Amino acid sequence: MLTDYVLQVPQTVYGGLHALENIPKALKDAKKAAIFTDQGIRGAGLLDYPLSLIEEAGIPAVILDDLPAEPTCDEAQNIIDRFKASGADFIIAIGGGSVMDIAKLASVTAGGSWGVRDLLEDPLRGEKQIKTLMIPTTAGTGAEATPNSIVAVPEKELKVGIVNSAMIADYVILDGRMIRNLPRKIAASTGVDALCHAIECFTSKKSNPFSDTFALEALDLILNNIEAACDDPDAIDAKNAMLTAAFYAGIAITASGTTAVHALSYPLGGKYHIPHGVSNAMLLVPVMKFNEPACREKFAAAYDRAARVSKAEGAALTAEEKSAWIIQRLESIVKHLDIPASLKDYGIGSEDLEDLVAAGMEVTRLLVNNMREVTPQAARELYLSVM
Ligand SMILES: NC(=O)c1ccc[n+]([C@@H]2O[C@H](COP(=O)([O-])OP(=O)(O)OC[C@H]3O[C@@H](n4cnc5c(N)ncnc54)[C@H](O)[C@@H]3O)[C@@H](O)[C@H]2O)c1
Ligand SMILES: [Zn+2]
Repeated sequence: MLTDYVLQVPQTVYGGLHALENIPKALKDAKKAAIFTDQGIRGAGLLDYPLSLIEEAGIPAVILDDLPAEPTCDEAQNIIDRFKASGADFIIAIGGGSVMDIAKLASVTAGGSWGVRDLLEDPLRGEKQIKTLMIPTTAGTGAEATPNSIVAVPEKELKVGIVNSAMIADYVILDGRMIRNLPRKIAASTGVDALCHAIECFTSKKSNPFSDTFALEALDLILNNIEAACDDPDAIDAKNAMLTAAFYAGIAITASGTTAVHALSYPLGGKYHIPHGVSNAMLLVPVMKFNEPACREKFAAAYDRAARVSKAEGAALTAEEKSAWIIQRLESIVKHLDIPASLKDYGIGSEDLEDLVAAGMEVTRLLVNNMREVTPQAARELYLSVM
């Protein structure tokens, strides 16, 4: 366990049934707002109410509604250049991780002479210049909590995480209305992404008392709500629980760090364009089975927190049995949610294996967090298990 740890969180977080109504408070120092969003969100009608609140607050707003999903570094730069030309001094990101990640990069580059590619070389070069309000519409990435922004770098065929605490949001609004009609397929893969954040951070070499508090609460909320939140459009409590959990899991990322699921997932997104949540869902169970011998006590602690059993029933189980229960629970969630389970579904086969292993092994930033060492042979076997 680490002996030193730090917790960095967004300054103001509004949650609950009427959280959106706080938009004017966040805008109190803004002269002109820019709304970052995408076509899916606009098409789902999710801009209408926030726009009416911004108008009521008397703040002029420009709308950038064509942000790309899973952006490359150059696509993000293109949006930032358009933001700069807009003259806005405040960013409202309404969307999933893709939208929020571009907003975060804009907040630390828009007033400087450096751009996104410079941050790939030196992430700390970015300085907070524009305040941000993040309103997540997936429950999900936790990008509203983290100092991370993930962009694809085409020439490397990899996704790269740019990390700088200056990118942490100034304001966050967690309002269940934004995920009420999230299509099941997106709710499923983004929900499993949050699950990966929680369990990876909880079992990370960087885990610590701060991160464990948020990771464990997130795990409890997700393990007990994810199916209902995805299956039942009216399960508002379960959906709110997922939104809170995704945010907590984001805080856990900030205080700890994800591990081999995310590391091996990056090439699948960067080269083969598999959605982030889907590639994580494929790798979650194989990696946790691989990690089990080194993480048994942590899995047992997760069982103690999340399994809804009597004290006597819990006390009768060994750590090994509790750990097996957690892995089985992960397996049943991924299966129940009908997330593609094989790389074959994306046309990836054994001919791609060595490229994947080489690219995955490059993600040392996260692999070093994994409790069990991931050798190239272990990575090979993990990729093979999902082919
Ligand atoms: N910054 C971080 O800490 C962090 C962490 C994990 C992942 N990420 C990154 O986030 C990106 C993925 O974000 P995501 O999983 O939230 O998905 P996304 O933002 O890419 O959105 C996926 C699709 O869902 C649609 N959508 C989103 N919300 C909707 C809603 N409420 N109703 C209808 N449609 C909706 C969008 O229009 C889009 O087409 C990836 O690039 C990933 O690498 C970032
Ligand atoms: Zn993730």
